[in-house]
Amino acid sequence: MEIPFNKIVNSEKETLQFAESFAEILKAGDIVAFTGDLGTGKTFIVKAIAKYFGIKDVTSPTFSLVNTYDEKVKINHFDFYRIKKIEELYDIGFEEYLIDNSAITFIEWAEMFEEILPPNIYRITIKYIDDSKREIIIIKK
Ligand SMILES: Nc1ncnc2c1ncn2[C@@H]1O[C@H](COP(=O)(O)OP(=O)(O)O)[C@@H](O)[C@H]1O
Ligand SMILES: [Mg+2]
Repeated sequence: MEIPFNKIVNSEKETLQFAESFAEILKAGDIVAFTGDLGTGKTFIVKAIAKYFGIKDVTSPTFSLVNTYDEKVKINHFDFYRIKKIEELYDIGFEEYLIDNSAITFIEWAEMFEEILPPNIYRITIKYIDDSKREIIIIKK
């Protein structure tokens, strides 16, 4: 997969195929920030990527704020949706997660706390087109 990337996926199956080819270029230390409305497929894509790495029981961190997985690869999975103040991120040690170069980190609703994100990370924007179609855009910035 080449970055920048832009594709319209027509089904969940095509999203799964996309997730697999994106997973192939990911390595420990990478950070992936997702932007996209509720129900566009942020968690769906993180689950598919985790599955590629052999992690099967991924659930949305909407209420826990962060879920971590430590199997063949380490994964940190954040969801900023319910966070009201940046202090809550400092409280759960967000910055320590970021300097952990042994994990791949995913962040849903990343744009809510843009100021806490480091530079040079993958940024995925998902746009809802219809019930089964999505536009997926990836840049590294
Ligand atoms: N092409 C597609 N890609 C991803 N998800 C899709 C697609 N078509 C339908 N869906 C559905 O959209 C929903 C996405 O939910 P979820 O991943 O929880 O969204 P988010 O985390 O962005 O709020 C799932 O119910 C999924 O089955
Ligand atoms: Mg989600």
